[in-house]
Amino acid sequence: MKATLFLNPQNIISKIDNRIYSSFIEHMGRAVYTGIYEPTHYSANQTGFRKDVADLITPLEVTNIRYPGGNFLSGYNWKDGIGPKENRPIRPEMAWSAIEPNQVGTDEFLTWCESMHISPMLGVNLGTGTPKEAVELLEYCNSTLHTYWADKRRENGREEPYHVKLWCLGNEMDGPWQICAKTATEYSRIACETAKLMKMLDPSIELVACGSSFRDMPTFGVWEETVLRECYPYIDYLSLHQYYQNMEGDIMSFLSRDEDMTDFIIEVASICDRIKQEKNSEKDIKLSFDEWNVWYHFKKEGKGPEKWTVARPIEEELFDFADALLVGSMLNTLINHSDVVKIACLAQLVNCIAPIMTQPDGPAWIQTIYWPFLYTSKYGRGSALHIEATAPSYSCAVREQASYLSASAVLSEDEETISLFLINKNPEEVMELSLPGISGTIETFITLSGVSFDSVNTSEYQSVMPREITEQTLETLCLPAASWNMVRIARKK
Ligand code: AHR
Repeated sequence: MKATLFLNPQNIISKIDNRIYSSFIEHMGRAVYTGIYEPTHYSANQTGFRKDVADLITPLEVTNIRYPGGNFLSGYNWKDGIGPKENRPIRPEMAWSAIEPNQVGTDEFLTWCESMHISPMLGVNLGTGTPKEAVELLEYCNSTLHTYWADKRRENGREEPYHVKLWCLGNEMDGPWQICAKTATEYSRIACETAKLMKMLDPSIELVACGSSFRDMPTFGVWEETVLRECYPYIDYLSLHQYYQNMEGDIMSFLSRDEDMTDFIIEVASICDRIKQEKNSEKDIKLSFDEWNVWYHFKKEGKGPEKWTVARPIEEELFDFADALLVGSMLNTLINHSDVVKIACLAQLVNCIAPIMTQPDGPAWIQTIYWPFLYTSKYGRGSALHIEATAPSYSCAVREQASYLSASAVLSEDEETISLFLINKNPEEVMELSLPGISGTIETFITLSGVSFDSVNTSEYQSVMPREITEQTLETLCLPAASWNMVRIARKK
């Protein structure tokens, strides 16, 4: 199978906003308790956070972490999670039928982020919460004034403000599953007034308003328009969420889903453009794809851990090699739309739908999807290049014509290197790839390949591991059948 990738280092889509390499930690399942935080664990530091988990997060070079939810956010009272730990209330947590002990809250999370050199992306509760509580949280986190909540922060041991820049106005407020879900009009009003209030207190912050929970929501489109019309002057980003599944075991349909993600981004970006024109505004609203991943294995197995426990082990996806290929392809989609997508969060980071897994009181290990995220985050920084691909295609249940090739190209900031991220979805044939217009030498060629689609990594055995290919040149580039690849080219200028 032959394919050609045309690209020109002068032809740039956009400088990539590094925040597309963000992730997400929710008070859900074991993401926090026995995930990042386990005071009795042998690797725990003085504040109770696991070092073995931190050591696996660091190489991912995640820029921001969205917190504390998710669906959890819509029932969360942030005031439960501050002050002396022994005085914090234990609450029933309705979103995930769990018990929330409130041992990790705003201060613990923000201090941990600082120690990890990761920026937070905090959510304010617009389910049971009010604009007043949202602006009080902002005051607690960011204010330098000597006012009640800023002084409370000082009393709790933190003199300096945290300077949290990025904030989400609620979560998936259109979803019937959401605590205190809202109609488009109800949400738009509360989001607008909350945004106004928050920017009055701290005009330096950036705000993300909720888009539809996913593309197939019946309200998709109208919801986005309503929110934008109402909130336009006060918000900076509109959110998109999408998880892909393969309940039917139709691998080729599943592997084409990055193209659905492309359509989704184009649709939302065009709604933003339309409302911009309608408003005759100078300002662009950009996109925050703040939940994306593959998510279905746990549901498919029909597991239902006991309800109303702390750290209920839910949604512990065991990702396979096919998932790694789709995650790699979805990252390409984000890069190829980096002109409009400025933030994206792999949902999530630890234990729940996550690249990193832990055992309570035991080891931490990495899943298949860790690898495409790691390499793309590390080397996919700089400028995204326009690419024109001619590659064989296939037809499947969800798409008449899906390409066997997913590709993106990134010119490094010093312009010395081009990194190509390439997925050959064809399980039968290698792909011979020509690259007219690029001259240089291959500096690194990393592949994930040579295993079956259903291969998984566990704490005992890592079957999906990156491998370096050394014997290829730019003129003889061959992508193995069913493979994710990163080819870094040192340019000859
Ligand atoms: O990431 C898991 C859940 O998926 C989040 O809580 C919610 O926002 C989405 O439906």
